Amino acid sequence: MRILVTGGAGFIGANFVRYWLEEHPDDRVVVYDLLTYAGNRASLADLEERIGFVEGDIADPDTVARALADEEIDTVVNFAAESHNSLAVLDPGRFFRTNVLGTQTLLEAARAAGIGRFHHVSTCEVYGDLALDSGEAFTEESPYRPRTPYNASKAGADHAVRAYFETYGLPVTITNCANNYGPYQFPEKVIPLFTTNALDDEALPLYASTENRREWLHALDHCRAIDLVLRDGRVGETYNVGSRFEASIEELADRILALLDKPGSLKTIVPDRPGHDRRYLLDASKIERDLGWRPSVDFDRGLEETVRWYADNRAWWEPLKRRAPVEETAWR
Ligand SMILES: NC(=O)c1ccc[n+]([C@@H]2O[C@H](COP(=O)([O-])OP(=O)(O)OC[C@H]3O[C@@H](n4cnc5c(N)ncnc54)[C@H](O)[C@@H]3O)[C@@H](O)[C@H]2O)c1
Repeated sequence: MRILVTGGAGFIGANFVRYWLEEHPDDRVVVYDLLTYAGNRASLADLEERIGFVEGDIADPDTVARALADEEIDTVVNFAAESHNSLAVLDPGRFFRTNVLGTQTLLEAARAAGIGRFHHVSTCEVYGDLALDSGEAFTEESPYRPRTPYNASKAGADHAVRAYFETYGLPVTITNCANNYGPYQFPEKVIPLFTTNALDDEALPLYASTENRREWLHALDHCRAIDLVLRDGRVGETYNVGSRFEASIEELADRILALLDKPGSLKTIVPDRPGHDRRYLLDASKIERDLGWRPSVDFDRGLEETVRWYADNRAWWEPLKRRAPVEETAWR
């Protein structure tokens, strides 16, 4: 396979590149990334010899077309996105530009180049939120009810991907995944934010709705799911990828503080982000039944390893903390 990984210098993209080279060492992997504040070549430093790298915008048709042609790409996996809900509240335009128009530009280039598979990485958040006491879980048939600029822009991208399948026959697949955690995640997101703040004895900013919860999946399990979908998934289909393991924001803070032996007094309540979703839960039975996927990393073990990774890799995250664009108290 000759695979273009857009957003490969970001959190899940970098984990995917590592996973892919480990599992498919003979494949050609080319990372295509704009290196926004969230992109970080240091996440791929030890792999530079084994991959191609194009610094470019997915919304730039000429650079995308050149990368597809020069590298004779047969498969595109699109991770590239603006991904931080908090930044989306403050600067929604860049989310619609990259996530919707960027994805459509990439689709158009893939169609012109006759790409064999376009896999699009999406999120549980397109389905909207659930009441904390709801017994429901989102299936692939659930209606799209995005509530924030980030999840609305991801929903728009999903619709564009489907339209390219239905209208032009582009061989697409989509995965809608739960919240990911693991190494190489930018320290603006809750698990690395809480971990790195705790390591520095700084306050952990908890939104006032501390009971809001998320479903957590290790990034490696997400990568395995995408691999299965690329190999055995049905073109035109969407697959939900979730673990059914949920934890509230407060529980996460408590677990991280306990792992680092830090005091509960570091927890600081901040006002909720506007439009803060209460909860999402995915029904992943389709990918389990059709492709035999199961999450393999237990949350207790995965969180402990992840927290240890941040403790051991200060040189990776310290420079990133300084370029994080949003304070979680910006709406106070
Ligand atoms: N993190 C999660 O929990 C999660 C869950 C489900 C789905 N997703 C989706 O997975 C994908 C990756 O998420 P992540 O957490 O790794 O995000 P991230 O913010 O860590 O990485 C995004 C990457 O995309 C690059 N990028 C941004 N705009 C670009 C553009 N216009 N052109 C080219 N590259 C650009 C950035 O430089 C960065 O390297 C996103 O599409 C996100 O919506 C994330």
